[in-house]
Amino acid sequence: MRAAPQSAFLERLEHLLGAGGLLTAESDAAPFLVDQRELYRGKAIAVALPDTAQRVADVLELCNERGIAVVPQGGNTGYCGGATPDESGAQLLVSLKRLNRIRTVDALNYSLVAEAGCVLADVQRAADEADRFFPLSLGSEGTCQIGGNLSTNAGGLHVLRYGMMRDLVLGLEVALADGRLLSALTALRKDNTGYDIKSLFLGAEGTLGIITAASLKLYPRMSTAATAFAAVRDPRAAVQLLARLREASGDRVSSFELIPRLAVELTTRHIPGVRDPLDAPHAWYVLCELASARPADGLDAVLTESLQQALGAGLLTDAALARNEGERAGFWRLRETIPEAQRRDGASLKHDVAVPVAAIAQFIERAGAWVRANVPDGRLIAYGHVGDGNLHFNLNQAPGADRAAFMARGEAIKRVIHDMVVREFDGSFSAEHGIGRLKVGELERYAPPVELDLMRAVKHALDPNGILNPGKVLR
Ligand code: FAD
Ligand code: MLT
Ligand code: ZN
Repeated sequence: MRAAPQSAFLERLEHLLGAGGLLTAESDAAPFLVDQRELYRGKAIAVALPDTAQRVADVLELCNERGIAVVPQGGNTGYCGGATPDESGAQLLVSLKRLNRIRTVDALNYSLVAEAGCVLADVQRAADEADRFFPLSLGSEGTCQIGGNLSTNAGGLHVLRYGMMRDLVLGLEVALADGRLLSALTALRKDNTGYDIKSLFLGAEGTLGIITAASLKLYPRMSTAATAFAAVRDPRAAVQLLARLREASGDRVSSFELIPRLAVELTTRHIPGVRDPLDAPHAWYVLCELASARPADGLDAVLTESLQQALGAGLLTDAALARNEGERAGFWRLRETIPEAQRRDGASLKHDVAVPVAAIAQFIERAGAWVRANVPDGRLIAYGHVGDGNLHFNLNQAPGADRAAFMARGEAIKRVIHDMVVREFDGSFSAEHGIGRLKVGELERYAPPVELDLMRAVKHALDPNGILNPGKVLR
């Protein structure tokens, strides 16, 4: 039986959320209580499923009055445990999945308004149906939600050209800790009226408010793409190729992803339907795409010519151009399923780092040499958004290695990699995945003290009772 105060709280919640708005049975709540990497397993008083922004605000007002902590959850694809409650059983999980309407699409204004629980792929589709393009694209796009993308300031495959999620936002609607609803769903491109309050909630991982809707930027729909899977001499050659392609195409490079040989081996082994696009094995590859909204833009010719010149200059050793949509999809499937192939292959240690684009090759050389010399039971699989200077510098357990022993060294390995990134390369230990619960200690270690003080001041101003996602980002 529930204790009396808890039962009164749940009755109030049930009343304000309406039919189907509250899950209290353990079996119903279970899928919401573990993160996708299975690093954390939490407990919750219940799972609230509000279906309007006002209901989200009402839930927060009630929780604030009672001092009950709230953990917002979108698609639960985050990498840092930010959407999982702690083990106390005293926190309320708020899932945004029922708040999932596209409110408006304004093709002439190149904008749309989506509720926080819209799945990213549905937003992309809504834009496409209006002959427009919403550029955020991630391997998790069939599951992650706009509210989660905003709250992690997601990056992904098109940052090089369109920026991160933060750059795609015009306005926000946010439920605040005290139950007020901030309605700032502007569709304006220019608005210099005081502090940019919305920016506080972007990348805040649910610690400052619950985002309920966003006004997002759209772009002309892409109508042609030229895509190549090319074997590069080394990462240094990859960065040089990117610079050449940007120049030759008039900056129409929309993606430029670095892929090591091991990623090709793991995806072809573990993911049905993935095949190696090239005949012989090579140490490093790039998947690059040029895209344009103009139907006949000659992109294939630009790409072919650039690749031929790069071949002549010794930057490339081989390349395959996608001849049709099926081949293009095949290249992308290989890239987008690397995380899943890594998961199926065994334990992995992830480092989501960023360094200046021009320093990426030097970082791979230096950190790679350290891994080879010091982690005999791990295999390096460094891949990702090289056009943004963002590498997923991941290590997978080597075949036959002891999983527990490998994982136990994770902290020591992380320290070397992160110290190198931050102190030697002026880089970031969390380029696009956020802090959540996993990297709170890292933020304390590496953030300048003044920045941490300001973050704590903002947190206190917006959430004085500390009910919003406690223990995430800051503690
Ligand atoms: P969740 O995991 O549910 O939540 C993430 C954080 O946001 C939590 O702290 C949560 O409390 C908070 N939150 C969620 N919704 C709200 C809301 N409405 N208001 C306030 N706070 C909220 N990430 C990248 O950046 N780039 C990639 O390329 C990329 N690729 C991926 C590929 C795969 C296969 C997978 C599994 C993940 C990948 N990710 C990537 C990570 C992840 O998909 C992103 O971080 C995504 O933005 C998380 O969205 P979500 O809806 O799943 O959020
Ligand atoms: C990706 O780009 O595939 C993800 O952000 C990286 C990962 O899953 O580690
Ligand atoms: Zn990524």
